[in-house]
Amino acid sequence: APRQSLAGRKVAITAGPTREALDPVRFLSNHSSGKMGFALAAAAQRAGAEVTLIAGPVNLPTPSGVKRVDVTGALEMRDAAERAADLCDIFIGAAAVADFRPAKFAEQKIKKREDNNEETVALVKNPDIVAGIAARTERRPFTVGFAAETEKVLEHARGKLTRKKLDMIVANDVSVADGGFDSDRNAVTVIDAAGSEMLPSALKTELAEQLIARIATRALAP
Ligand code: PMT
Repeated sequence: APRQSLAGRKVAITAGPTREALDPVRFLSNHSSGKMGFALAAAAQRAGAEVTLIAGPVNLPTPSGVKRVDVTGALEMRDAAERAADLCDIFIGAAAVADFRPAKFAEQKIKKREDNNEETVALVKNPDIVAGIAARTERRPFTVGFAAETEKVLEHARGKLTRKKLDMIVANDVSVADGGFDSDRNAVTVIDAAGSEMLPSALKTELAEQLIARIATRALAP
């Protein structure tokens, strides 16, 4: 069958980690490199879409023809994602958004004291970006999430698909050596209401082509 074109369609994609600042010199973050989200942006652009890529702090070149919006923290990523979602047909959350951020930002560098060998950081929950967009009643794009899991991968991913009211979720076992965070390769299972399909280990660039083809078919199904 011919590939579903994304010509004339707008696609917004989040990629990379977020950084949650503790003070002017420190942050909480994770090992996401942005490779998966950037590969999806390039594949969607090649399929004809007008792509907005909302990127956390990563060291990757912008795919050609893609509009890139750089952000740092989860709140900033949420604002950029909500703005992009107002205009897009398809939203894909590939970013590894920090679930929590420090409850307060210290304006000055936090000093270590001589008298304490332990320190506690209070955290508050970040908003769930992809769930917020999927929960829309107006201007709701076809919404795809990822699920980074280390155990019970499909079960946990199905839970997120339902809880976050997503149209599709890409389950990602991040405990394997040759996949997940920072690897050039990945293996995933695509899950939606109709069922699931395993996409075996491949370069993230190749996997992105397969994912965009499936997302386009499902999102634009008559
Ligand atoms: O960037 P790479 O190094 O290439 O690695 C790719 C990846 C492993 C980061 C990617 O394939 C992946 O799995 N991304 C999702 C990572 C993640 O944070 O998963 P999660 O199960 O915690 O979140 C589930 C979904 O909710 C994701 O779509 C996530 O973007 C979204 N989310 C989570 C928390 C939050 N506050 N807001 C969100 O939108």
